[in-house]
Amino acid sequence: MLRIAETLESQLRAAMERAFPDAAAAARQAGPGLDPQLAPASKPEFGDFQANGALPLAKPLGQPPRKIAEAVVEQLKADPAFNALCQDPQIAGPGFINLTLKPERLAAEVQVRLGDQRLGVPAVEQGAPVVVDFSSPNIAKEMHVGHLRSTIIGDSLARVLEFRGHPVLRLNHVGDWGTQFGMLITHLKQVAPEALNTADAVDLGDLVAFYRQAKQRFDEDETFQTTSREEVVKLQGGDPVSLKAWGLLCDQSRREFQKIYDRLDIRLSERGESFYNPYLERVVADLDAAGLLVVDDGARCVFLEGVSGKDGKPLPVIVQKSDGGFNYATTDLAAIRYRFGADPEGDAARRVIYVTDAGQANHFAGVFQVARRAGWVPEDGRLEHVPFGLVQGEDGKKLKTRAGDTVRLRDLLDEAVERAEADLRRRLEEEGRSEDEAFIQQVATTVGLAAVKYADLSQNRITNYQFSFDRMLALQGNTAPYLLYAVVRIAGIARKGGDLEAVASAGSEPLRFAEPQEWALVRELLKFDAVIAEVEEELLPNRLCTYLFELSQVFNRFYDQVSVLKAEEPARSSRLALCRLTADTLKLGLGLLGIPTLERM
Ligand code: ARG
Repeated sequence: MLRIAETLESQLRAAMERAFPDAAAAARQAGPGLDPQLAPASKPEFGDFQANGALPLAKPLGQPPRKIAEAVVEQLKADPAFNALCQDPQIAGPGFINLTLKPERLAAEVQVRLGDQRLGVPAVEQGAPVVVDFSSPNIAKEMHVGHLRSTIIGDSLARVLEFRGHPVLRLNHVGDWGTQFGMLITHLKQVAPEALNTADAVDLGDLVAFYRQAKQRFDEDETFQTTSREEVVKLQGGDPVSLKAWGLLCDQSRREFQKIYDRLDIRLSERGESFYNPYLERVVADLDAAGLLVVDDGARCVFLEGVSGKDGKPLPVIVQKSDGGFNYATTDLAAIRYRFGADPEGDAARRVIYVTDAGQANHFAGVFQVARRAGWVPEDGRLEHVPFGLVQGEDGKKLKTRAGDTVRLRDLLDEAVERAEADLRRRLEEEGRSEDEAFIQQVATTVGLAAVKYADLSQNRITNYQFSFDRMLALQGNTAPYLLYAVVRIAGIARKGGDLEAVASAGSEPLRFAEPQEWALVRELLKFDAVIAEVEEELLPNRLCTYLFELSQVFNRFYDQVSVLKAEEPARSSRLALCRLTADTLKLGLGLLGIPTLERM
């Protein structure tokens, strides 16, 4: 109902200006003018919206706010366009104006959405590129549940932004550069040289083990350390043998990552840390030219403003180590410079979003500050870290296998699908249904993967989240199966003879609603556009989940309490229209979470 809210807001503002011309003129001189403070009603019994703008005027006007509200209402009632939209406004409490839309306007709005594939969500015209930097696992290391969270959340944010019409760059900033390769190559040369010149000589599992051994040697053995460092310098200097080995190692990991992305239907463009190698020197030069660079103990760094360590001294962001090497922060600075850069070599983005665990909050805060001070972020450029909490086991501790190892993503997804399959087989037996294997496999895969994604997305991402197969696969509660089931229920109405398609095209007959359950569903359906706008702004997919869950609940109440197929016309068509719009909204909404729906389950 964003469009309606905008109309109402300008009608209210005009009414305020007519009621209090002097105050309006003063407010316009001091800023944007009088603010009606329009918001969705806090309770359904207050109507659809409330306007609280009378309250802050009480002091400057020297009048009780209720009196101010009365004067505004009087002006509103003199506006024919307002009267066509709303019922008589009510004044409540100290001076809130409660507004209730006319039923026929609400019904007409539903009708408009039935014929609109975007379900009332406007598309931005030619938006500037938005970078979503997500997933971003590290080569030669296993992708872990933290990366899974980043992948799922980042994908959903990218989908919402794409749906709004922004050109989105989905960037996989894989960790493919730096000391880990020095260690790994040095170690492999000694223990498995074939891995350095033959594709597929080792698999990712081996590679991860080799990496662990290499890391241990690096921590314990000084000679190994020196050789590893030399190896990194060789690689970063473009030595062909090192580069070949590096390429093979990257390919190996990449293929493994891709399997996960394919399973989850996630699209990403890889642009790893190594991509920024040619730009690192320029980062240092730019910072130097801006007068930000300080040499501290041989390292080149930028001291942060307003951030100090335990000793009270300002904290540095190190951009070049004393041995000349660059680090994670330098790469991120080069990436920011490149992503906002308007030159042919840049992305010309206006919004750059990073989806990583909250543990990296300080890293990003520091890097963002340095980038802003260096002048790389345009005035209207937005640089946002989207942090998320840890994934925990049901015991509240870090998620581990029973044997105490880190959980492999492949195993985790397999288990979700296996459990979904077991649940389904049980249900089929209870209901005495028989279905073929293809159906069972398809439903189990869809439900299992949907459950994993939804469980992650439906939490407020900032908090830690407890991973529980039982909870995420439950048919009741705020879960994927519950939402998928609502879609299936509506598809069932169509199978039982309710022609949902026809309802949508028959736009001529106005829809008619009488029951409170119908109105509740109408109002819930019309919130969709505002929810999308909120997710786009605040980057919180759980808002969309909560909405879809509430919509399903309101729908189920409606469907349980009001007859649809057996109703008389015109109620029957009007109710079918609500079913149809509910299904469309759930499908689109779940699609934006990266979750496909089913017709039967
Ligand atoms: N590779 C990093 C990790 O595994 C995440 C990278 C996030 N993106 C970035 N531009 N720093 O923690």
